[in-house]
Amino acid sequence: REAGIEHLIFVTGRNKAVIEDHFDRQYELEVTLTERRRFADLEHLERDLPIPGQTSFTRQQSPLGLGHAVWCARDIVGDEPFALLLPDVLVQAERGCLAQMMDAYRELNQRANVIAVEEMPEDRLHMYGVVGAGKSLGKAFEVTEMIEKPARGKAPSNLIITGRYILQPEVFDILENQSWGAGGEIQLTDAMIKLAMNQPFFGVKFEGRAFDCGSKIGFLCANVAYALDRDDIAPAFRKELERRLCA
Ligand code: G1P
Repeated sequence: REAGIEHLIFVTGRNKAVIEDHFDRQYELEVTLTERRRFADLEHLERDLPIPGQTSFTRQQSPLGLGHAVWCARDIVGDEPFALLLPDVLVQAERGCLAQMMDAYRELNQRANVIAVEEMPEDRLHMYGVVGAGKSLGKAFEVTEMIEKPARGKAPSNLIITGRYILQPEVFDILENQSWGAGGEIQLTDAMIKLAMNQPFFGVKFEGRAFDCGSKIGFLCANVAYALDRDDIAPAFRKELERRLCA
């Protein structure tokens, strides 16, 4: 929302109806909170509700890869640029990562594609999409190459794709015919490589800290970082951490 996105589209999978429910009214919870006079919590629930009619859900019936998951949303997205967020990546930042990317996108003033990138130590590059960096243009830089899950020593730089994208709808036509890539999956990165042959493609080094919650350590670090960022939790949490670390 901070980035100016109006319609939210969720691509989920089987047995994940709870995600859909999370973005709906929690009637039982509202009644309980009212009875207990927890009005601040009630207000919070109300504030986080999506705008009616501006949320869509669709399913990826088989886990065939990120590219396939994105392709599943093609009819709902239609023929316009869209932002893609991989929700297992959390970015802690003063101004949201996608909002920073939108700033760069507007500044570019063209039908471009923009992806968020961050530096990663050499020994972890093989777990991500890695980009090559060309010349800078305002807040962005030209992406010269991309490779998904490069073999050790084969990465073009230490800049990984962070899981935030602004893409043009032509990517759907490419995904339609995309063959299997790294890990035997339909890879979005492979489709983006083809897209970049015909359209401008930029990277943005965002300000903030990303947590890859797809890894156990990333998930744990995110919990610690977000807890330490909350005024209502941080003092007690810090004490508890110190007690344990110093024991
Ligand atoms: C996906 C993308 C990859 C990106 C990563 C970010 O990989 O394919 O390019 O760097 O997300 O977390 P996955 O996490 O699905 O293996």
